[in-house]
Amino acid sequence: MERRPRRPPLAATLLSTAMFLRCATAFRPPAAARAPTRLRASSSEAAAPVARRTVTRRILSGVQPTGSIHLGNYLGAIKQWVDLQDSLSVPLVRTEVNEKTGAATEVTEVTENFYCVVDLHAITAQPHDPSALLESTRASAALYLAAGIDPARSTVFVQSHVPAHSELAWLLNCVTPMNWLERMIQYKEKSAKQGDGVGVGLFDYPVLMAADILLYGADRVPVGEDQRQHLELTRDIARRFNDQYCKGNPYKKRCKAAGLPSRPVLTEPEAMIVKEGARVMSLTDGHAKMSKSDPSDASRLNILDPPDLLRKKIGRCKTDSMAGIAWDDPDRPEAVNLLNIYAAVQPDRSRESIADEVRDLNWGAFKPLLADAVVAHLEPLQQRYREVREDPTYLDGVLAEGASAAEEVAGKTLHAARTAMGFAPRT
Ligand code: ADP
Ligand code: TRP
Repeated sequence: MERRPRRPPLAATLLSTAMFLRCATAFRPPAAARAPTRLRASSSEAAAPVARRTVTRRILSGVQPTGSIHLGNYLGAIKQWVDLQDSLSVPLVRTEVNEKTGAATEVTEVTENFYCVVDLHAITAQPHDPSALLESTRASAALYLAAGIDPARSTVFVQSHVPAHSELAWLLNCVTPMNWLERMIQYKEKSAKQGDGVGVGLFDYPVLMAADILLYGADRVPVGEDQRQHLELTRDIARRFNDQYCKGNPYKKRCKAAGLPSRPVLTEPEAMIVKEGARVMSLTDGHAKMSKSDPSDASRLNILDPPDLLRKKIGRCKTDSMAGIAWDDPDRPEAVNLLNIYAAVQPDRSRESIADEVRDLNWGAFKPLLADAVVAHLEPLQQRYREVREDPTYLDGVLAEGASAAEEVAGKTLHAARTAMGFAPRT
């Protein structure tokens, strides 16, 4: 199979944009863009567009390459990335009409996707195993590709290959109050587990995550529910940075000298938290989230577990002793979780059809159905994963090209942040 990393050639991008412009439909723009204008309801209502503008929106996310990626990571994060990439790969076009002048502007919204393997985050679990880091980094990247992230439409890269992440994290450290980080739930939980030797890196982890996001001006960040607090922190850090360093005449002067526009450097991101698969729970405790850090491997379904092991884990997973299998009973967390998984791996089926199918089943009859559905969903992904791993040149090429593309964007933000903070320009 011939697979080469590729970006869409410019001509192809322009062609698809042009083709799309012809069949454009209006859609709901972001609030900021909506404010001074109204959307044209139908093409006959207002004058033909007199101006055109392109808006670039960016999506960024990442998963730590620690341990093996499980069904929670896949359904809560990676699968959402693929769905977003697929649904937003064609530019969206809308027409905005200025209420005062009646002038119409055709706005083309292009979405760029950045998906990184956050290996710098992986070393916050102290001490990490250096010989495992390389393999888990490559395995994670290969899984992104196997799950459907397409390097022609998304930039796939390794965080530590783009040094701007560490550098911006340091700059942001200096604008982030300690007590903002002390409030982080994930830090409290993980540091309690790590005890006295807990590293500064674990405490500082959310600032590095903020740097990951802010370097790309990402306005949307698809993550699982547990990352909401980190996203809010990222917004607070961006606002504080912009307030402290991106205002007033001295800032304008610095920007002018550096040939940069004097707008706020950092963009506040929004979390995109999906309902379905947002929280996959442990197989051994319906109250705990499925996690790489659970010491028991029986608590999770790893994406790369062989079919026999997946069946075995499902066969042994915790259930309850009530009759029938119901979805909406909060007193039955295991039933809710297993049904959520059953539905998530059969995306073409409705909730009703699943509820009808399982209502009168007992666990002994349901578990094999669940195991079959999980295995059927994961097998093609596992096959693609093997293909990617058998072709290291391809994987290296994707990551090298991804790092260069990421660096280009990240370098611009870092330069603007350095300018805002008043660092001496490098001559
Ligand atoms: P883990 O807790 O397994 O170490 P990470 O913290 O690396 O997972 O999370 C990686 C991504 O996967 C994040 O976007 C996170 O929200 C999502 N995620 C992690 N665990 C789950 C889960 N059990 N259910 C849904 N999403 C999850
Ligand atoms: N902190 C995230 C997690 O544990 C991983 C992560 C690091 C991330 N940087 C990010 C997620 C940037 C989204 C965007 O899951």
